[in-house]
Formats: sequence, C-alpha cells, structure tokens
Amino acid sequence: MAENNVLFTIFGATGDLAYRKLYPSLFRLYRKGDLQEHFAVIGTARREWSDEHFRSVVADSISDLEADSQEVAKFASHFYYQAHDVQDPEHYVTLKKLSDSLDEKYQLKGNRLFYLAMSPSFFGVIVKELKAQKMTDTSGFHRVVIEKPFGSDLASATTLNDEITATFAESEVYRIDHYLGKEMIQNISAIRFGNNLFESMWNNRYIANVQINLAESLGVEDRGGYYDKSGALKDMVQNHILQILSLLLMEPPAAFSDEEIRAEKIKALNAVRIYTPEEVNRYFIRGQYAAGKLEDNEFLGYREEANVAADSTTETFVAGRFTVDNFRWSGVPIYIRTGKRLTEKGTRINIVFKQVPINLFKTDVHKDCEERQLPENVLTIYIQPTEGFSLTLNGKEIGPDFKTTPVKLDYRHSAETVENSPEAYERLILDALNGDSTNFTHWDEVAQSWRIVDAIRKTWDEQKPDFPNYKAGTMGPEAAFELVKKDGFEWIWQPEEWYRERDLL
Ligand code: BG6
Repeated sequence: MAENNVLFTIFGATGDLAYRKLYPSLFRLYRKGDLQEHFAVIGTARREWSDEHFRSVVADSISDLEADSQEVAKFASHFYYQAHDVQDPEHYVTLKKLSDSLDEKYQLKGNRLFYLAMSPSFFGVIVKELKAQKMTDTSGFHRVVIEKPFGSDLASATTLNDEITATFAESEVYRIDHYLGKEMIQNISAIRFGNNLFESMWNNRYIANVQINLAESLGVEDRGGYYDKSGALKDMVQNHILQILSLLLMEPPAAFSDEEIRAEKIKALNAVRIYTPEEVNRYFIRGQYAAGKLEDNEFLGYREEANVAADSTTETFVAGRFTVDNFRWSGVPIYIRTGKRLTEKGTRINIVFKQVPINLFKTDVHKDCEERQLPENVLTIYIQPTEGFSLTLNGKEIGPDFKTTPVKLDYRHSAETVENSPEAYERLILDALNGDSTNFTHWDEVAQSWRIVDAIRKTWDEQKPDFPNYKAGTMGPEAAFELVKKDGFEWIWQPEEWYRERDLL
C-alpha cells in the first residue's frame, strides 16, 4: 500500500456530509495504510471550534467502525480546525500559515487536496482566494474536489466553471458524483466489455428498451429547504441518471483509461436528443407526493414537510424517455424513473432484450391467446440495496407438456462482501489522491447534461403542474406507467404490486 503525503483542507468541516461520509472514509483509508504518518486535515467552517472539539467530532463520526481508542486518537491528532469566513480574504492568510506549517510538520511535499463540501454559492470565492493567497503555489499537486450541485443550469454552471478553472486546470478538478463510486456502477463496464454475450447484443437490433430506476422510499427528511429549490430533475437526473446512462450507452473505449472513457461518455451524452417543448410534454412526466400509507406507516405529503412551501410546485418524481440519435441506439427508448417516497429504495437497471421473432410454442401452450409472446430476456443490474445482476431466460417447464417457464439466473454479492467493499466516498477520495479522474465528471459532461435537462426544466417552468399527483408509498403517478405502456412495454420493476396484492397500499 503506497502512502499518500497530503494536506486535506475541508471547507464545510462542521457539516453533515463531512461527518457522515468524509471522516469515516478518511479513517478507512488510514486503516488500510493509504494514509499513514504524512497527512493532515484542516477543517474549516464558520463555527468557532477548537482543535480538541474538532477531533472529538471526528472520533465520534467513526465510532461505529470498531476502532480501538488509541488508533482513533492517533488518527484524530492529524486534524486541525480553523474558524473561517470564506468571504473574508484575511482568513486565507491564517489558513495559508497553518497549511505551510502542517506541510512542514508532516512532510507533505506540498501536496494539497481542497474539498469543497459546502454551499456551491461559495465555491467561486474560495478558489479565487486560494489562488490570491498563493495556497496553490507549493511544489506538489493541487486538486480540488467539488460536491454537487455543479450549478443550477447551464449558465450558472458555466460561470462556476470559469471561476474554478481560473485557479485549477480541468485535470485538477474532481467533480463528485457519488454514484460513480458505487461498486455496481463501476461493474457496468465489466458486464458490458467483459462479456461477448452482452456486448455483441448491446444495440438496437437486440435491445428493446433500457430502464434506469433510482427509487427512494425516504422523503426529503431535513433537506426541504434545499430540495424545494432543486427538485428531482436537478437533484437526480442531471447528474446520477445521466452519468449512468452514459456508461450504459457509450461505445467501448479504446483503452480503460480516464481519457478514453470520458471521450466515449461525452459522445454518448451528445447523442441524447435535446427535446423540443412538444417532446418534453410527450416524453417526460413529473410528480409530487401526497400523504400516503404503506403497511403501518403513514407519510406526510410533500407540501407538509418542513421547509417546503405550502403551495410548492417542486417535483419529487420524474419519469421520462430519452431518445438517443446514433447508430447503436436509434429507436431504443431509454426510460428513467426516480422519486422520493416511492414504495421501496432501489437502484436498478433493466436491459430488456427484444423477443424472438416468432413464438414457436404459442400454439401448444397458449391456444386461447394466439398473440401471446414469450417473456423478454432481461438483464438486471442491482446497484442497491442489494448488489449483483440477474438474467431472465425462458426454459421448458418440467413435465409431459411442452410449456415454457421463465428461469432467472441470479448473482448477488453476499452481505459480507457488500459490507467489506469500500464505500463510494472512500474510493473517490483515493482516486483523487491517485490523480485518477475516471470516476469524476468532466466539465464537458456536466455542460451537456445541463443542456439536456435545461430544455425539460424550461418547458416545465412555463406550465403549472397539477400537484400533488401520486400517493406516498406508490411508484409515482399513473402517467409514468402510461408513458411506457403506450410504447408497448411495461416497467420491469413494480415493487408496489406485492403491497397491493396484500392490501397494504
Ligand atoms: C443525492 C441526492 O445526490 O443522492 C439525494 O441529493 C438522494 O436527494 C441521494 O437522496 C441518493 O443517494 P443514494 O446513494 O442514497 O442512492
């Protein structure tokens, strides 16, 4: 395990993300030896904390990782706190002094990783001051890791990008999309490019449609203030869904390197049609949840949630059909579906293959229904909560009659494997330390994703939605089912059926 010499400076160190994700991930890296003696962390935020207090918060954040107290104390001793008003240039002078002294104390070789885990409205001023105070003038590497959202439309994202690239080169900017750190998202490439069975059929001759589901059972929790300004389209589609889509649809890269993969992802995104207002209305559905009940749980409606406007028109659900205008995908609907307060938490991709040209068995088996076709072969990639993939095929049912029956080949990682596999943030931080940007989003991808999403947003903003239009606990509005049905398909994943059959929904 190579040790990394580095100074982390975390802006937003008192925040939820730092507590829940960053400190535990740094600790896991420390435990594995990716960080050893030669690292230090400066946490900065507005609050007046002491180093001692900061260290106790860090220790608390890793309390469920079963570390012994000596190990924790040693790890936490690398953490320093600097109260900081990001808009005050004076504070960067103090920050620089502390950085330089830690650099010397821990022999960090001038390597600096700045992590912006706070409101994006401050990103611009932070990077400007980092440059003005020459904090990026050391001999080692300088990288900036940026949390989403990257802008709120193409225009604001462009302004932000211009500000950032005035200090950091594109190759030094690591825009986080934590989905890219998930095991099974990374597995998409292995499934596609490691199996001739799939790759040779990965096109419009054999694939009928693709379904990308990012369903959440939670509501907006304590993030109503942020969410009400964002909505599902910007919160989930612009980033996570379009990133998954690009990995699924891209051409095989010439090599498995960040540059080659990125080039293919960008090409795939460029082929996604930017919809006209008529197409948006035809192909995109939005929804907002009303109060609902699932099993014994009763849920509030979105408009009753904390920090949400009582007449909010923010969507908590999006379903849509993307059209991809290239040789490989022309004519294949790419359905997407995401939302809050749906029946179950589940991120899964269904690749639905075309049916065989004729059903040889229909006269024997379905005399009453001449039109009946065999179930399609479906490759499902389970991203969470379980991880793995399955393939449904048709086989013969055991017995004297010739009846076909669907057979499912199912491979799931064991709970233990999932437990031991690195967390998304841990992988991504390590990638950033290694200078590997494969699992981060390049500016060209961000910009194109905004172009795609802005067209939808603009059309929606000009029409008043009829909200709320789905009950908490269901899989979204009826129109989302119609969308797929009118193309002659259906959603492969329908978790609400189980509850309906038992009268629990
Ligand atoms: C975040 C969104 O990017 O992703 C949240 O802002 C959402 O609204 C979350 O809940 C989902 O991530 P995961 O990893 O829990 O599926």
